[in-house]
Amino acid sequence: MDKFVVRGGNPLLGTIKVSGAKNSALPCMAAAILTEDEVILENIPQVRDIETERKLLEAMGATCELGYGRAQHRTTIQCAVLSDPEAKYEIVKTMRASSLVLGPLVARTGMARVAVPGGCAIGGRPIDLHLKGLELMGANITQEHGYIEARTERLKGAHILFDKITVTGTEDLLMAAVLADGETVMENCAQEPEVTDLAAMLAGMGAQIQGAGSSTIRVQGVSKLHGVKHRINPDRIEAGTFLVAGAISGGDLNVDCCNPQHLAAVIAKLEECGVRLDVGKDSIRVRSEGKLKAADMATVEYPGFPTDMQAQFMALATQCEGTSVVTENIFENRFMHVSELSRMGANIKVDGRTATVRGKTPLQSAAVMCSDLRASASLVLAALIADGETILDRVYHIDRGYERIEEKLRGVGAQIRRMGEVFGKR
Ligand code: EPU
Repeated sequence: MDKFVVRGGNPLLGTIKVSGAKNSALPCMAAAILTEDEVILENIPQVRDIETERKLLEAMGATCELGYGRAQHRTTIQCAVLSDPEAKYEIVKTMRASSLVLGPLVARTGMARVAVPGGCAIGGRPIDLHLKGLELMGANITQEHGYIEARTERLKGAHILFDKITVTGTEDLLMAAVLADGETVMENCAQEPEVTDLAAMLAGMGAQIQGAGSSTIRVQGVSKLHGVKHRINPDRIEAGTFLVAGAISGGDLNVDCCNPQHLAAVIAKLEECGVRLDVGKDSIRVRSEGKLKAADMATVEYPGFPTDMQAQFMALATQCEGTSVVTENIFENRFMHVSELSRMGANIKVDGRTATVRGKTPLQSAAVMCSDLRASASLVLAALIADGETILDRVYHIDRGYERIEEKLRGVGAQIRRMGEVFGKR
């Protein structure tokens, strides 16, 4: 298992580039199921979850070629024949987003078998709302031996009101609706840029969608979709992570190839903490010269402050003067980083969904354990300013969603390296 070794203390200086969004790329790859034609996706990040999705699609009979060399961020997918429309437990258990194939599989083949995703480090993560929507569209859903099976001749348009806002639920049902018979109206939809990105790709394939990016989406089903070439949005969470890296390290960092419009809540919160940001068209310069001030933060659905930036914000809060109250409203158990940050010297108390961070506390190096993707990112950020050499274990979590983060950070002056197993087998 790979580890990172980070020696803290260097301010980050220079330009760091943001990759394509993992959480846009995953549904867009699943959308290739909706057509027999070739789909070309550009700006695909080279991260573990993308490789997992490639395996998932290939196991169904698709061809999926991840580019290399100069075309390393291009992926070509063709789902001419889907001989085995199933997402097996071996894959679903490593990536919950595998359930995104449910909607497009039923829409295209009339049948899907998907392993029920279990809980994960950040909470229960059920998919009941995906299933409820598919049932409303006429699918017959059964569950047996840990698998969900959805079947129908052809999905029908329906009126779907989400009980709760769900990102992949909105995406899954959007992909089902584009090939359904008639009109589907979805209310209380997720408005995340990843939903808008997927809708843009689907529109390029011939789908008729109105309102993506708002809470109500209307879809007129069509009988067939065609191939498309689509460019994935920049990753707003990777960009936000780098903004915090610049701020926490007292550096002067240009976060390039991002979309600042997708980062409004993060930008506002960092400014509230006293971070200096110069926002350009597709880049943001971050500087932190003076003292950082504490600020309260609560995660909300887009356009609010993203839950995927909560752990990174908490690392920053340890360096702000005063008390910051952080409230996690989206997931029930997303404070796994707290115990590790505390081991590095942070003063954080958790009570239910709220964490109270008292700063500023100096951070010390320690051996720490990554528990999930964003928690790992917060530990890297803490390690950047810790006194001494921090060893982060289980960095496979970070590899799921950040493209070569250690190389990118090293490029702007961080002392970070990856090492394989330190201790050989006896
Ligand atoms: N929920 C239900 N029933 C459902 C679906 C969701 O109760 O059928 C609940 C969840 O348990 C959670 C809330 O609704 O409490 C929101 O979950 P959502 O469905 O929006 O999350 P997701 O679609 O599974 C995506 C991202 C996550 C991100 C969340 C919230 C992808 C592949 N994943 O997950 O990203 O945290 O939206 O923004 O898009 C990450 O990248 O690290 C990550 C976890």
